[in-house]
Amino acid sequence: MWNIGNISIEGKVVLGPMAGITTLAYRDFMKDFGVAVSYTEMVSDCGLIYKNEMTYTYLAMSEKDHPVGLQLFGGKKETLVKAVQLVQDLGCTYDFIDINFGCPMPKVTRTGAGSSWLRRVDELHQAVKAVVEVSSKPVTAKIRIGWDSSSINFMEVIHALEDAGVAMICVHARTTSQIYSGTARYDLIGDLRTKMKVPLVISGDIFTLDDAIKAIEITKADAVMVARGSLGHPKLVSQIDTYFRTGERLTNATLEEQLTYLTTFGESLVKLKGEKSAIRELRGIGVHFLTGFPGMKRFKAEMSGTMETLEDLYRIVREIAETVLTTK
Ligand SMILES: Cc1cc2nc3c(=O)[nH]c(=O)nc-3n(C[C@H](O)[C@H](O)[C@H](O)COP(=O)(O)O)c2cc1C
Repeated sequence: MWNIGNISIEGKVVLGPMAGITTLAYRDFMKDFGVAVSYTEMVSDCGLIYKNEMTYTYLAMSEKDHPVGLQLFGGKKETLVKAVQLVQDLGCTYDFIDINFGCPMPKVTRTGAGSSWLRRVDELHQAVKAVVEVSSKPVTAKIRIGWDSSSINFMEVIHALEDAGVAMICVHARTTSQIYSGTARYDLIGDLRTKMKVPLVISGDIFTLDDAIKAIEITKADAVMVARGSLGHPKLVSQIDTYFRTGERLTNATLEEQLTYLTTFGESLVKLKGEKSAIRELRGIGVHFLTGFPGMKRFKAEMSGTMETLEDLYRIVREIAETVLTTK
């Protein structure tokens, strides 16, 4: 058991925010596998302030979703504070506010948002302090270890965040210049949690149960964040969650299980978004459920290329079951 401010958290798996992926449908689907904490995808503070319609769709939450963090990004203290006031006035049902100090994408860092804050630690301190003051819910932060390999400053940033009053910090063990490539730098963050006052969630290259065990062993973090590793492979969350509860190692998902997960996810996406836009979204995400299994090339191409309806999904799943599973 650990906590984010006054929220008690059971379980060691945090579902990483992923723009374009961690929609409410995805979070609800993943929750059943043992996710302890989720985040929305990152939400632009100015998008909220200037009433961008799309931005408001990211605020959708369900009963099952909790505890869930609303992740904001923005480049100025004033707009971050205004956005927090706005979501409070709207009566949004998030459980904590997370501020994104990790996004490495130039279109975000160019505006002073995301990980570009790591180069302005004093300003970051002031901004977070102001957000904490105005927020009625706990405030957390997600950072990277530094801008590049010659400016690694996560300890300085962590101290600033703790002083500003955050309730938890998630560290993605890469620099901004690594974007998502190279390996996460666990070599630099040994025993990190023992040097911190607030709970630590550790992120970076969690693709297997053993990756999660190792990340917690190295850093002594309270929990691991699963991001790309769970994309199409939701059972990874169950494997990590179960291991830390009972010591049991669940087997990897079979292709049969994957097809069931894929169908369930597709159906819930359709329920939330309507068939047309759900199936379009599923074209990108659905193929991940088939990754790692032989003989999937044709089906992946069909799924990402021509799938239009839920009936197409059912047909592809049936064809896989008939050809691949029966010839095993
Ligand atoms: C497609 C994609 C979108 C992401 N979007 C966000 C985001 O909106 N906010 C955020 O804090 N991190 C975001 N991340 C970073 C992940 O949450 C995570 O920290 C990172 O992928 C490292 O974990 P991994 O190596 O296990 O995937 C994103 C990552 C990917 C791959």
